[in-house]
Amino acid sequence: MLSIVGVGPGDPALQTPQVTQALAEAAHLVGYGPYLDRVPPRPGQQRHGSDNRVELDRARHALALAEAGERVAVVSGGDPGVFAMASAVFEAVEAGPAEWRDLDIRVLPGISAMFAAAARLGAPLGHDFCALSLSDNLKPWDTVLGRLRAAAGAGFVIALYNPTSRARPWQLGAALEALRPILPPHTAIVFATAVTRPDERITVTTLANADPALADMRTLVLIGSAATRAVGRWLYTPRSAA
Ligand SMILES: C[S@@+](CC[C@H](N)C(=O)[O-])C[C@H]1O[C@@H](n2cnc3c(N)ncnc32)[C@H](O)[C@@H]1O
Repeated sequence: MLSIVGVGPGDPALQTPQVTQALAEAAHLVGYGPYLDRVPPRPGQQRHGSDNRVELDRARHALALAEAGERVAVVSGGDPGVFAMASAVFEAVEAGPAEWRDLDIRVLPGISAMFAAAARLGAPLGHDFCALSLSDNLKPWDTVLGRLRAAAGAGFVIALYNPTSRARPWQLGAALEALRPILPPHTAIVFATAVTRPDERITVTTLANADPALADMRTLVLIGSAATRAVGRWLYTPRSAA
């Protein structure tokens, strides 16, 4: 059996009981090292930690273990279906031996970073929104920019994942520049870093003042729509937004 689980944004209280049970029952945990570190050790359980760039290898390894009769949990942060391991596992199944299609594979959801960040702020995702990954590792940069412009132009609030990394230092600055002709300068921009973890840091600013240096690999950038606004210390998008 292969469970693909999401451990949520960081706070253990935000992990579902279903995921906690699957992790406790697994003989093998497979995942990116820092996500595995969030799972309390259990005697007899084997951990297969790896780098975050080898998702398909990791997926194949997990499937091979499951095929051999082992109980395996593939661990993702947030939700496993949002820019995470669930797609990698199904991609490996598609390209792999026919037997892998008959494995007992279960996807157990988790709280994605955009929901944890939105809850801290109020209700910025209260009307139409979309999630985009700013990473151009798996799609061309022109596609990233095209989708960003289209989403902003169509009035979506945008939850921007993977805004920056050591290998992708300039893309967030370029993305903000691309949005400036489309959205008003006072559009709300939020840099929500390490949400629900001890080092959480949340900065609410505007498109005119947004500084890409506020983001790191643990940051979700929320880009408001023209309707997103403040009420007291909260930020929300009314459900009646045009
Ligand atoms: C590979 S994606 C994984 C997303 C994850 N599956 C989810 O549903 O949250 C990694 C990106 O998620 C975002 N992220 C994950 N956890 C976060 C947190 N606790 N606070 C803010 N952003 C987070 C960041 O944008 C980070 O670069």
